[in-house]
Amino acid sequence: MGAGNEKEARVNSAKLTLNIAGVEKTIDFPVIVGSENEVAIDIRDLRAKTGVIALDPSFGNTGSCTSAITYIDGDAGILRYRGIPIEQLGEHSSFVETSYLLINGRLPNKFELGEYSRKLTMHSLIHEDMKHFFDGYPSTAHPMAILSAMVCSLSSFYPEALDATNTELFDITATRLLSKVRTIAAFSYKKSIGQPVMYPRNDLSYCANLLQMMFATPCEPHEPDEEVVKIVNLLLILHADHEQNCSTSTVRVVGSGQANLFASVAAGICALWGPRHGGANQEVIGMLAKIQANGGDVNKFLSLVKDKSSTVKLMGFGHRVYKNFDPRALLIKKAADSALRKLGKPDPLLDVAKRLEEAALKDSYFIDRKLYPNVDFYSGIIYRALGFPTNMFTVLFALGRLPGWIAQWKEMNEDPTTRIARPRQIYTGNVAQDYVPIDSRV
Ligand code: CMC
Repeated sequence: MGAGNEKEARVNSAKLTLNIAGVEKTIDFPVIVGSENEVAIDIRDLRAKTGVIALDPSFGNTGSCTSAITYIDGDAGILRYRGIPIEQLGEHSSFVETSYLLINGRLPNKFELGEYSRKLTMHSLIHEDMKHFFDGYPSTAHPMAILSAMVCSLSSFYPEALDATNTELFDITATRLLSKVRTIAAFSYKKSIGQPVMYPRNDLSYCANLLQMMFATPCEPHEPDEEVVKIVNLLLILHADHEQNCSTSTVRVVGSGQANLFASVAAGICALWGPRHGGANQEVIGMLAKIQANGGDVNKFLSLVKDKSSTVKLMGFGHRVYKNFDPRALLIKKAADSALRKLGKPDPLLDVAKRLEEAALKDSYFIDRKLYPNVDFYSGIIYRALGFPTNMFTVLFALGRLPGWIAQWKEMNEDPTTRIARPRQIYTGNVAQDYVPIDSRV
């Protein structure tokens, strides 16, 4: 896959001695050192120099790019956007400001933030023709199916954005996407419950507007509570980027073929939907509800998870990169406690979640495998308390992840060294054989 931002990385070299089929060769490979001293051997020339490829299914040990956007230290539980710790952004920033930071590489000044927010406000309406698309879906449609289709459909209303190489159009396309995705999400919810859609209101902030479109009706306005708006901002900030995860890599892979931003992000939304990825937040609530309905015995459930003949997983636990704790989970757990207290909505599922976490963290199965609660373990509890239905949880994850997808697409697109993503394979099928006419087959 293409690399980006190598100007930021130091380059050394390493000599590797390989013995392949009895032939020994010592070869120089560039060694790339990142700004946090992470080290990679650049094997782009491995095949040209040796005739062999590197095989790494699921990319557990493969860097697909260099990137200056997000830094994670999975052993130390560190997550930073553009160098700023997630804890500081969660406390002091807004989702809109964090989006600016991720996409533009630095915090905006007052004027820039005002202009950016104003543009997001001015682009919140979707084309009236698009409204009719919602009528074509059954009321049981999952909102992620609607969201991905609608985001891709935006490209048909802004055909100028089809040229992904036109960098002058990036700002307006990104603004449209960030702003309209909220409207699409809320419209899909309204469709699913049979209520008329609520249009955006220009007097409201980004997150307050989302809540208004979700929860107001033509008969009753919804004035979002300031505390609730703060909590939604925090949740979206915590989801805003997470470097080269499954959906972000999808956005980059699709974008590397020069697909436009709307299409690339629509693909990312589909990738996020799966229960191993962003779909886990919905699954966690289902799991907690089932445990509660079966008498609340968390140890019995953990026995089932540990039984290798079952396919049951502890949803909201485990992470490819975090092997100590997920800093987002810590912040969300704290927020869940205070949100439920402030909203005066105690949730018995929070108690099940806490007991489940406590039991798992004491259990050698989870300790040995370094499995900890991830971002999805407690987020659903807050979304429930705020009134979001379960099938909207992954949509909220997608809204939060949008600035990250956009920033990563931009970084990839602006990098002159980007090539189309095209992994290789090791073929394990039949060796050459002749076609057998149908009458001669046994
Ligand atoms: N419950 C039970 N066992 C688990 C779990 C879990 N949640 N996660 C991993 N394991 C076990 C796994 O079975 C394997 O055991 P063994 O060594 O005996 O075969 C070992 O731990 C290593 O797991 P892995 O499958 O190699 O880990 P991975 O890096 O490929 O997968 C994961 C990461 C997040 C997909 C996985 O931990 C999982 O399925 N978790 C549950 C789903 C979930 O919460 N997903 C949200 C991830 S965070 C938000 C996001 O990025 O979307």
